[in-house]
Amino acid sequence: MTDLTTPVHIVILAAGQGSRMKSELPKVCHPIAGEAMIRHVVRTGAELGQRITVVVGHGADTVKAELADHAGNVQFVHQTEQLGTGHAVMQALPHIQPEERVLVLYGDVPLITTATLQPLLVQEQAQALTLLTATLYDPTGYGRILRAGDAITGIVEQKDASADQQAIREVNTGFVAVPGERLHDWLPRLSNDNAQGEYYLTDLVALAVADGVPVTAVQPLDVGETMGVNNRVQLAALERRCQQQRAEQLMLAGVTLADPQRTDLRREVQVGPDCFIDVNAVLDNVRIGPGVHIGPHCVLRDVEVGAGTVIESHSVLDNAVVGEQCQVGPFARLRPQARLEKGAKVGNFVEVKKATLEAGAKVSHLTYIGDARVGAGANVGAGTITCNYDGANKYHTDIGAGAFIGSNSTLVAPVEIEDGAFIGAGSVITKSAPADQLTLSRSRQTTIRNWRRPEKKKP
Ligand code: UD1
Ligand code: CA
Repeated sequence: MTDLTTPVHIVILAAGQGSRMKSELPKVCHPIAGEAMIRHVVRTGAELGQRITVVVGHGADTVKAELADHAGNVQFVHQTEQLGTGHAVMQALPHIQPEERVLVLYGDVPLITTATLQPLLVQEQAQALTLLTATLYDPTGYGRILRAGDAITGIVEQKDASADQQAIREVNTGFVAVPGERLHDWLPRLSNDNAQGEYYLTDLVALAVADGVPVTAVQPLDVGETMGVNNRVQLAALERRCQQQRAEQLMLAGVTLADPQRTDLRREVQVGPDCFIDVNAVLDNVRIGPGVHIGPHCVLRDVEVGAGTVIESHSVLDNAVVGEQCQVGPFARLRPQARLEKGAKVGNFVEVKKATLEAGAKVSHLTYIGDARVGAGANVGAGTITCNYDGANKYHTDIGAGAFIGSNSTLVAPVEIEDGAFIGAGSVITKSAPADQLTLSRSRQTTIRNWRRPEKKKP
């Protein structure tokens, strides 16, 4: 990834409270694109470094739980009191090896890219303190980069800056890479003698200058990457930025989005070429094959969709697998463990739960299919209900291949409809229906001859 001959150790600061979020949830656990900010940062860190240390404090348990699946490559250190960014990195010091190059990332700056950070980790910078700096039109609030000629001499925080220094527009983004050996020397020497009474990580620059260690600066590919989240307005701004990027990636990979501003792509989203996605789709952890059409206002979460399938508007799919060439919706609901095999059809106002529709099976209107198998080519008529629940337990309904279930039938599970069985409309089926026979259970239709309508009594 980088040409560094020494290992890279990523230190992620995530101890702050984020009080301006006004939230019970630690700031770094708020989601961008459906995933906690800290997870974005850890993923980026994992691409750049061999080891990752996350400095936790406020809501430590929640942050650790969020990263539980990273137990193999992430370790945590606690900062019980937030005494400044320098103090935060100091908590990681016992884990930092002198030969490592340390890169500091921030749990609340989730969109930083590996492409921007790589220049901090190249071999020619290996012995330097390297800053990521940016020149802003409005630098208010940031630490300012002090230079003598070209050489960087220090960073002064907004609150400590003189009027002249406040006019400097080159700012510290906070991202910095430092040789581990130097951190062991410098961090214990930081003081909190400043306007905020904090141990500033930024004071390392002056120590480097004093020790004759080169201080260098690189700039981000796009300054937007370095933006952090302090409140929910900024959270929404980064969400939009992230969505725009993800939408562009999909379009460049051959997916048509009716409107990239009205598509939400959360967690892992894979979409094959020549798919069409209409407005207001929410795609959250999905794998979609080529040539799929998704109508407006659909929600797909934890879903797989095979090639050429059409999902019409207002369909909600949750934890379902849809095969190739299927037809779903409009207004369909696929609940957990719904499985549609090739060419199956689920039409409007149909709910499917823990059930498999085998190849070519059709359930076109107003139906509940739960805990069931619908065999290949079977046709389930409008208004059919699998009665899977007796108030205490759930039971299975088995519908064989080529069966035909007449409209408004009630299939009381456990029950089996054999291959090719034909069920008369309006039946209540409680026993097995044999293969290829007509089975019906309903009262015989009668007509009362010479019947007269009641007449109004005379007063
Ligand atoms: C810091 C930089 C400033 C830079 C700015 C960019 C310092 C002293 N200043 O200022 O030069 O322009 O970032 O946004 O570093 N944190 C902890 N523990 C602490 C303190 C902070 O984990 O004790 C975490 C915070 O949760 C936050 C991050 O570190 O995620 C930055 O801290 P913050 O106090 O926001 O630094 P700034 O004042 O913005
Ligand atoms: Ca900040």
